[in-house]
Amino acid sequence: MIEKAQMKTKRIGVLFGGLSAEREISLKTGQAVLKALGILGYAAHGIDVGLDLPRQLKEAQTEVAFVALHGRFGEDGRVQGLLEMLQIPYTGSGVLASSMTIDKVATKQMLLYHELPTPGFEVLKTKQQANKLINQSRYFPLVVKPAREGSTIGISIVQSVEALRHGIDTAAALDAMVLVEEFIDGLELTVSVLNGEALPIIQIVPKSGFYDYHAKYTLGQTEYLLPAPIDAGVYSRMQQAAVVACEVLGCRGAARVDFMLREKEFYCLEVNSIPGMTETSLLPKAAEAAGLDFEELIEMILLDADLDK
Ligand SMILES: Nc1ncnc2c1ncn2[C@@H]1O[C@H](COP(=O)(O)OP(=O)(O)O)[C@@H](O)[C@H]1O
Ligand SMILES: [Mg+2]
Repeated sequence: MIEKAQMKTKRIGVLFGGLSAEREISLKTGQAVLKALGILGYAAHGIDVGLDLPRQLKEAQTEVAFVALHGRFGEDGRVQGLLEMLQIPYTGSGVLASSMTIDKVATKQMLLYHELPTPGFEVLKTKQQANKLINQSRYFPLVVKPAREGSTIGISIVQSVEALRHGIDTAAALDAMVLVEEFIDGLELTVSVLNGEALPIIQIVPKSGFYDYHAKYTLGQTEYLLPAPIDAGVYSRMQQAAVVACEVLGCRGAARVDFMLREKEFYCLEVNSIPGMTETSLLPKAAEAAGLDFEELIEMILLDADLDK
């Protein structure tokens, strides 16, 4: 790890944009990070990530990378692998934790192995598996998602066999692996974890009833309750579960664990290894409630930059 005084002498590249469906969000996260690093007095430059990333890193003489990418080719271990190869210390999770958490199926299997609750599910990799499930499904609603997307892209909540078929097609167009989950009718909550510690829990109340792309990124479309007004025992168990989830998956820096809560039972949906840092993002809100302003948060993430994690 690099000490603060030394970090001030480094050329820090903020990696944003990228090639995934979440490019637009990453552009905003990247700008916010770049601005914060400037305020903090670091020598930061922005890199819009494309296929020429190695050349860009070389030309900018990047010495430390702040990874502000979301989704595939950025949050999934690929960029992290490249940075390892180039021996450029980088923020956040390493190669394995990134590729595990981008994959909702691998994440759920890991959670189950450690006895952390997650909604019941089926994995579809072939047309045959899809047809079999469609023919057998009797209980609705179900949730259909591509295994490796984010920002609610390609997700459907389906109420019928016909809608299930359509939902599978939609998800399969984005990913060869489709996840079909039990629908949890309950409250939606998210626990941010920073350097191994849980921040205050946020309850998410989308005005439309579904926390989709629009609700996530449009100001005023979602209400956030912070700290979440839930049972105190459930609150602390959920924080603990989030910390354990991040630990067993090997996450570093800042991560965010999404949950559904039905009565007193909570279920982990997924772990985000590079949570959004936009104006409407959840992790900065949770950090603020814990007494950390945006710049302090960014500095904590930066100072944890490392290799071989
Ligand atoms: N099993 C489920 N039961 C109820 N709602 C769900 C379920 N899975 C997902 N959702 C809804 O869809 C949203 C996105 O799902 P999530 O698994 O967090 O994927 P991502 O955020 O990567 O798109 C959640 O925030 C929640 O509103
Ligand atoms: Mg989510």
